[in-house]
Amino acid sequence: MAKVLFITSSWRKNSNSSRLAGRAAEAARGNGHEVTMTDIARLNIGPCRACMGCRKTRNGRCVLKDDMTQFYPMLEEADVLIFVSPVYWFNLCGQIKQFIDRFYALAGKELADGKNCLGNKKIGLVLAHEGDDPYDSGGINAIRSIQDICSYLGATFAGALYGCANDEGEAANNSALLEKAKEYGAAL
Ligand SMILES: Cc1cc2nc3c(=O)[nH]c(=O)nc-3n(C[C@H](O)[C@H](O)[C@H](O)COP(=O)(O)O)c2cc1C
Repeated sequence: MAKVLFITSSWRKNSNSSRLAGRAAEAARGNGHEVTMTDIARLNIGPCRACMGCRKTRNGRCVLKDDMTQFYPMLEEADVLIFVSPVYWFNLCGQIKQFIDRFYALAGKELADGKNCLGNKKIGLVLAHEGDDPYDSGGINAIRSIQDICSYLGATFAGALYGCANDEGEAANNSALLEKAKEYGAAL
């Protein structure tokens, strides 16, 4: 059993990416994983200022105090992190990117085995986009970013779930896409 943390980021009430993540989470829970869903859309998570404060303390915490603070313990505890994002301008949305930028503090904290404290995790991605496929929509850029982040950290890429859904709530009516989400969650 693994601790799986889904991080949703769309402002929409009936968000497509969040709906897909919800189905994947249900399947992961059904497989016995301990699943937590958290939403960062409306939180005050400021940009990394590259002040290197976290590189002085090396305690895995950003020196800035905003809504990001609460996530550091959750991120350290989770075995699997799943970023959930709408595709905006051919990449991750800004809120999730800003959230990831603040991981710099975690990447600077070493464990006893010499790995950084994200190095033993699995990291995956759930995307919703308008374009027909991840190449057309630019979702591929978001996927590549997460793959690169995994190789930098020494983490394992947990794969990406992506689906074409544009109008608010559209994913909820797409049974083939929801089935794909279920399969993704069941495989975590
Ligand atoms: C600012 C903005 C930028 C977007 N950029 C893209 C894009 O580059 N490629 C794409 O396929 N869809 C793009 N879309 C469409 C969204 O990805 C799509 O509506 C998706 O369903 C949103 O997911 P959500 O419901 O979880 O917010 C964009 C939408 C907005 C509002």
